[in-house]
Amino acid sequence: MPNHVLINQKINSFKKKILVSSDKSLSIRCILLASQAIGISRISNLLESEDVLDALKAIKKLGIYYEKKNNVHEIHGFGLNGFEIKKKTEIYSGNSGTLARLILGLLVKSKYKIKITGDTSLSRRDFSRVMEPLKKFGAQFYSKNNSLPLEIIGSQFLRPIKYNENKGSAQCKSAVMLAALNTPGITKIIAKKSRNHTEKLFKNLNIPMKVKSYRYHDIIEVKGLFQFKSFNYSIPGDISSSAFFIVLTLLSNNSEIVIKNININESRIGIIKILKKMNAKIKFLNKKIYKGERTADIYVKSTKILKSINCPTSLNSMAIDEFLVIFLVAAKANGISTFKKLGELNKKESPRLDIAIKFLKMIGIKVLRKKNDIKIYGNPNLILEKDYLVKEFMKDHRVFMMSCIAALVLGGSWKINNKDSINSSFPKFLNILKSLGAKIN
Ligand code: S3P
Repeated sequence: MPNHVLINQKINSFKKKILVSSDKSLSIRCILLASQAIGISRISNLLESEDVLDALKAIKKLGIYYEKKNNVHEIHGFGLNGFEIKKKTEIYSGNSGTLARLILGLLVKSKYKIKITGDTSLSRRDFSRVMEPLKKFGAQFYSKNNSLPLEIIGSQFLRPIKYNENKGSAQCKSAVMLAALNTPGITKIIAKKSRNHTEKLFKNLNIPMKVKSYRYHDIIEVKGLFQFKSFNYSIPGDISSSAFFIVLTLLSNNSEIVIKNININESRIGIIKILKKMNAKIKFLNKKIYKGERTADIYVKSTKILKSINCPTSLNSMAIDEFLVIFLVAAKANGISTFKKLGELNKKESPRLDIAIKFLKMIGIKVLRKKNDIKIYGNPNLILEKDYLVKEFMKDHRVFMMSCIAALVLGGSWKINNKDSINSSFPKFLNILKSLGAKIN
């Protein structure tokens, strides 16, 4: 089976309600926390993508039993550090930075060495960002070049740490919060703002924690060694997966979409804030609160006149996984858009800042770059007629999905690799596109 898609036709106008996949960040966090709870946790609507299935396999390797009954995953936890770790355990994290980094936080007390591996994309990513704070707790690491494969061995004498998280990385913050669970005393984290699902889950589980919020950072204190009970959770839809359909609708003619039951946590809606500043017609309908997380249906209407943006850097972390599609909107907007301090984009599944610039240039958009700042010269009349080839780019799922959206709204004749990449986060992506009328071979 070829591992590419061909798109030669723009999408016709559509008016539809859709459901996208469940939230990946919440799915992985629920699995990891259920593995530390006492009793059977029941998680419904878990995202069934490779990253999440790898998280389930990981806890199974650590001695945690789970089974799926209808739409519910039951995970049998034995409390904090209740793993049954065998010698020479190896955990494969596939493409998932979230899994590999967060699980290290749970392994700081492991008696045996555990090896963590990943696919080629994950193996080129930096792990010193989590190894450094976890070493301070007392864990030891063995790795070449601060990347995977690596080995961790825990300590029976953990000590709480004070940690300054200054990248705006929720993975680093969460790894330290998870390590704090098994550590006596109070771990203090001063964290630049980033997605706060771990904090919300901790609060729901009554884990002793204080959070003080400031404009650009939070101070989080976690008191360790609290045994928490199993829990039930129903995972809402993923705004990062919705992003592709939001932009598809905005840039199509005469179309409307309602994306049902999406997590609109304040720390995740950077894309909505950015697109609204660009004049996009987006509304939240049917807003609810579920276990401290906000959810809503997202309504989007095609928007003919989009404005350029001078994007506040305070929104960077809130939109970190969405910049590829945000740049597409900037390419069609009226005027020059500016985005600054986007170095973290190059630390993702592929060097996304470099790739986005190449991509925009390929479709004839002028882009100026100064280090990690870019200016995109929008062209509202952009119409493509040539042939375009999108390479594998480290099999980055978001590069693949963004390219499909570009092809469907801008025209031209496209060959886009690597179709299988969607399995890591959003296996239903192409089927949903087809249900809206997209012609994809
Ligand atoms: C995630 C955090 C972000 C994001 C990733 C998921 C999480 O990574 O890019 O897709 O679930 O915590 P960083 O923490 O590296 O910014």
